[in-house]
Amino acid sequence: MVGFAAPAHAADPVLRDLATAKGTYYGTAVTGSKLTGTYGSVTGAQFDSITPGNEMKWGSVEPTRGSFNWAGADGIVNFAEAHGQKVRGHTLVWHSQMPNWLANGTFSDAELRTITTGHVTTEVARYKGRIDHWDVVNEPLNEDGTMRASKFYTQLGESYIADAFRAARAADPAAKLYINDYNTDGTGAKSNGMYSLVQRLKAQGVPIDGVGFQGHLILGQVPSTLQANLQRFADLGVDVAITELDIRMTLPATDAELAQQKAEFKAVTSACLAVTRCKGVTVWGFTDSDSWIPDVFPGQGAATPYDANFQPKPAYYGIAEALGWTGGGGGDPGPVTGCAVSYAVQSQWNTGFTAGVTVRNTGSSAIDGWTLKWTWPSGQSVTSAWNATVSQSGTQVTAVNAAHNGAIAAGGSATFGFNGAWSGGNTAPSTFTLNGAACTTA
Ligand code: G3I
Repeated sequence: MVGFAAPAHAADPVLRDLATAKGTYYGTAVTGSKLTGTYGSVTGAQFDSITPGNEMKWGSVEPTRGSFNWAGADGIVNFAEAHGQKVRGHTLVWHSQMPNWLANGTFSDAELRTITTGHVTTEVARYKGRIDHWDVVNEPLNEDGTMRASKFYTQLGESYIADAFRAARAADPAAKLYINDYNTDGTGAKSNGMYSLVQRLKAQGVPIDGVGFQGHLILGQVPSTLQANLQRFADLGVDVAITELDIRMTLPATDAELAQQKAEFKAVTSACLAVTRCKGVTVWGFTDSDSWIPDVFPGQGAATPYDANFQPKPAYYGIAEALGWTGGGGGDPGPVTGCAVSYAVQSQWNTGFTAGVTVRNTGSSAIDGWTLKWTWPSGQSVTSAWNATVSQSGTQVTAVNAAHNGAIAAGGSATFGFNGAWSGGNTAPSTFTLNGAACTTA
């Protein structure tokens, strides 16, 4: 358990209730075989939409041509209905996770078209009236925005998309039909390709209701154009949704990184809420024990809002705050209304030094979690620290509280220390900010 992430307790927010109050939903991808015990109870209690991580993919439901296995998909739809949840059906036509007979089979163009529309019809009809959103076509684009050379595109051309949507509409007129892709979250070549594709589909009268933005993001790289991008698609006359949100980082995750991840989950959720046609957010696995990231990006992870032991991480509170929660938790720092910093070089030798820092809360309310920043006046650098996590970028230093000293009562203080390197000069920094507020020096 990391520093300031409080364990789940009765006072924790319920994401699905907050989402409902905001007129939206909050969803998660699930692994059907895990929907019991704590995994099942958190899924049912916190989320009001679920997406099968794998169980509705073509390879799962029709491993042998004409022979269907609906057990996994049925289990998830049944779970959703028992818990008053929407279902996001994922996914009907995708270049990946196809059954071998399809991926490696040779078919005439007409036969492949019939196979594809037949698959869409069969699966959508099976769940008619029980699926809210279908990812009808998944990941149709290359990174440069051109059409991906999938089996479908290569043989049938772009019309495979229109055919799939028309078949889905006919099989369940009430389901909202989406096209879904990754790396389209911000503006850019791939997103422009999706924009043009949606324009073409709309111009042809193809029954497309929405565009899914997967949101497989990297800590520190959330696109600044996310909200504007969602809005420009909405302005085309389609709904939008964040469909597979996760924010990965290199392991082990530090408290500072988890605090940043909190801010980023909050920002992505807020971006969706700010766009009227953004229907909701789905995370791609709610717990780090059920995430695809470590398998595909070795050494990376911690990408979801709960840790591997089902304890809410700061990211969970970030989501809750975006949805209107004001109850704190997960490092909500509280306002800094006054602060004073004393900085002392305690010993110094030819190239190195040891310093101690005391952060004093001179304001009138408690601080729950702090980030102290300063800029080196003469090019020093931090080499190791204790009682805080200290990082440096250029001459800018960021110190984040340790687990035990994040809370500073009004009138209280916290201390930490570090070793540094210097050459030429070792002048003390003259200005400090605490959670963004300027401090006096003492
Ligand atoms: O079920 C078998 C198991 O029997 C076998 O022992 C094991 C050995 O590797 O593999 C298991 O299958 C794995 C399956 O997940 C279920 O766990 C596959 O190897 C593995 O490739 C598959 O990965 C899935 C991935 O899609 C496939 O591309 C991930 O779980 C799933 O989260 C991921 O989801 C995709 C979305 O559908 C589309 N957008 C991107 C997203 C992340 O890649």
